[in-house]
Amino acid sequence: MKVHSQKALSILLAAVMLFTAFTPAFAATPVETWNGYIETADAKAGIIMFPGRNDTERNFSWYTDENATPEIRLSLSADMSDAESFTGYTEQSYYGNYSNKVTLTGLEQGKTYYYQCISGSFKSQVYSFVTDNDDSFTAMYVTDIHVSYDEKNPAHLHETAYNFDMTVNEALETNGDISLILSAGDQASEGLQSEYIGLAATPNVKSIPIATTIGNHDRKGVEYKTFTNLPNEQNMLVSSYVGSNYYFVKNNVLFLVMDSNNASAIDHRNFVKKAVKENPDVNWKVMMFHHDLYGGRIPHRESENALLRILWAPIADEFGIDLVLMGHSHYYTVSNVMYNNKTVAPVTNGGTVTDPAGTVYMVSGSLNRPRNDDDISLGENVGIEYLTQDKIYNLIDFTEDSITVKSYAIESDACFSSFTIEKSSKDGGHSDKMPPLYNFIVRFIGTVYAVFNNIGVYDDLKNDKGYNVKFFELLFG
Ligand SMILES: [Fe+2]
Ligand SMILES: [Fe+2]
Repeated sequence: MKVHSQKALSILLAAVMLFTAFTPAFAATPVETWNGYIETADAKAGIIMFPGRNDTERNFSWYTDENATPEIRLSLSADMSDAESFTGYTEQSYYGNYSNKVTLTGLEQGKTYYYQCISGSFKSQVYSFVTDNDDSFTAMYVTDIHVSYDEKNPAHLHETAYNFDMTVNEALETNGDISLILSAGDQASEGLQSEYIGLAATPNVKSIPIATTIGNHDRKGVEYKTFTNLPNEQNMLVSSYVGSNYYFVKNNVLFLVMDSNNASAIDHRNFVKKAVKENPDVNWKVMMFHHDLYGGRIPHRESENALLRILWAPIADEFGIDLVLMGHSHYYTVSNVMYNNKTVAPVTNGGTVTDPAGTVYMVSGSLNRPRNDDDISLGENVGIEYLTQDKIYNLIDFTEDSITVKSYAIESDACFSSFTIEKSSKDGGHSDKMPPLYNFIVRFIGTVYAVFNNIGVYDDLKNDKGYNVKFFELLFG
């Protein structure tokens, strides 16, 4: 009898778990439900899915107090029958607890997978994700999410985390097929573990992989690297400590995600060169990093952005990058098509550029800290701009021969901007010539600068003088 009642209880529990797992990720989440949800064990563990090296992989991380070999059970059935086991490793955080990291490999396209994260006594709910099935996909792009811990107002962390959840839900209502989230840095305001757990609290990041970038605020703490589990991370000569460059391929797009706190142009060029060489068959090359090269110019930030323009724009020129996604200014701008630091074709709201001979640079507004001030002057190369207190999200449709970016403001529920980049061949209009005036000397100066200072940061975490300890370790052992 006891066995029967235990069985019945297990079935009931399984049914509840399944019901929760299958609740559509895009169902509206009222604040009350959210406040309850973030207290659950899964939300506190901060389970989050990152992209893998390509469509056949997914990377995961979550926190536990225990240090045990982490495992993900993966099944094609909702009841988790015939589950395959993938194990990973742990990394101790600055806070003493453990980040559990597991990679799923061998995923097939056009399938629904169910998974469960297990580590010691921790056992998550069953979640699901879908792998893409065709040659096109839609990514959501946001930036400066700024999940923020405030000592004086603990509720602020929950509110800012909720705003991210709500924004993804809104985006999913516009397009339920989002299969990647791109976040261009400043996910957290102080780089604290509690803020990253807040970021991961939305159930959406358990079903849609999120590609994050190191912003200057992520670098205020040391947790970003421990929290993330990113593919193809590169060892660099110069580092900003909290993470590194990484790349991944989704469908026919190569995503190059870079740490713009680190000005080491030699490292960044080597990184792009390697990733591009390894992936000759992609149709599109998209860069993502935090600092804003061509957008709204805020006087006190212009010096660091100007330095990066000199160091990085030539890399985009040399390797025929189609689109660069950025953040930092908290101000929505889309540049014209740029080559050699000049406008080569205008980008207009509602317009299409065909076979552009250069790169489009885009900055979205901050999700939790929208700007609304006059202290902004537009760069002369800006094609589209939008100043709003509203939260912005962008949907990017990638097809074989086009990229269309549509930008939405939440409160007005309107698409306020769209533009399309079209190519009639894989190379489009990109030049195969090196841009003039960019040579090893410029890159070398950038790298020397990076050794002594990270962009915009003078109170280095590991050395009062801001020197890059790792560089000296590499040189002198
Ligand atoms: Fe920011
Ligand atoms: Fe920033």
